[in-house]
Amino acid sequence: MKSKIISIGSYTPNNIVTNQDLEERVDTTDEWIVSRTGIKERPIADDSQATSDLAYEAAKIAIERANIDKSEIDLIIVGTCTPDVATPNVGTLIQKRLDLKNFPAFSIEAACSGFIYALNIADKFIKSADSKCALVVGAETLSRITNWDDRNTCVLFADGAGAAILKPSDDRGIIFSELGANGEYAELLHVPYGTSRKPKTPNEDDYTLKMSGNEVFKVAVKTLEEIAIDALVKSNLESKDIDWFIPHQANMRIIQAVAKRLELPEEKVILSMDIHGNTSAASIPLAFDRAIQDGRIKEGDTILMQSFGAGFTWGSVILDL
Ligand code: ACO
Repeated sequence: MKSKIISIGSYTPNNIVTNQDLEERVDTTDEWIVSRTGIKERPIADDSQATSDLAYEAAKIAIERANIDKSEIDLIIVGTCTPDVATPNVGTLIQKRLDLKNFPAFSIEAACSGFIYALNIADKFIKSADSKCALVVGAETLSRITNWDDRNTCVLFADGAGAAILKPSDDRGIIFSELGANGEYAELLHVPYGTSRKPKTPNEDDYTLKMSGNEVFKVAVKTLEEIAIDALVKSNLESKDIDWFIPHQANMRIIQAVAKRLELPEEKVILSMDIHGNTSAASIPLAFDRAIQDGRIKEGDTILMQSFGAGFTWGSVILDL
């Protein structure tokens, strides 16, 4: 028994902030942002939109494309590090919006690895026959934890959501999935204060993402290279067996380094940070959906997905679509 992704849906806010817009706000240039990251523009939620609103829109599209009745859904897992509120969790908020009830719905906080963590958990529910139809979502409003006056971070982060419907399959589906984490590096990429660690006289900036970009970069490349090779070896596959590589969209240079190490040609690498920025847990399903909609990814393809994010957390999934 395998878990098969039968559909993907995604949603990004209409409000687009370009590199030129950011040039007017902080000391940066379009040239710096594009050459260092690959990002040209990013969707940013409007004041009325919270993470569950984006997640709900993506979920509706995934349900419609799956051609299922929404009442078939018996599990919702959301990867996010920007939940609407501390509680209730985003999974239950979407459950309510979809007018569904009486099955597990929860969110997990693994930053940029949120979607891969959620997929791994849903895969286990399906393989153990505890779920016959799972909705897995990666959704973020990173703009809410970004300091818009800090050029080190504001040029990177963005908002969006991607959703997948998974069902059991005897044939195609997830053939490999493994997660990892190392809390040793926590302070290289973190939000110093928040829900429970909350000083009495907070500096607004303490509630925004802080990143030692260069150090994160080095650990990210090393980890992603190692786990990608590990995933191939453990699945008895070679690079040539992979049709598409969909990595977390943090930085084009990280992705190019990993693809080179895997000897994967550029044409097999799905990039979407140019229009999406870094949307953390939403980035992989957003890139996935983009490549399905433009006709690159097709039924029957073998896909390697991998993520790396704050924590640090990471994960890989290989699936036959
Ligand atoms: N515009 C112009 N200059 C800038 C900007 C900017 N927006 N931001 C930083 N700089 C400057 C720095 O101040 C520095 O100047 P200095 O040399 O005078 O001190 C110089 O550019 C180089 O800075 P670096 O941080 O070394 O630049 P780097 O090439 O490493 O690129 C970046 C920065 C894009 C952040 C990169 O390090 C990166 O992508 N890191 C990894 C991100 C990642 O993978 N995160 C994990 C997932 S995200 C999540 O979990 C939410």
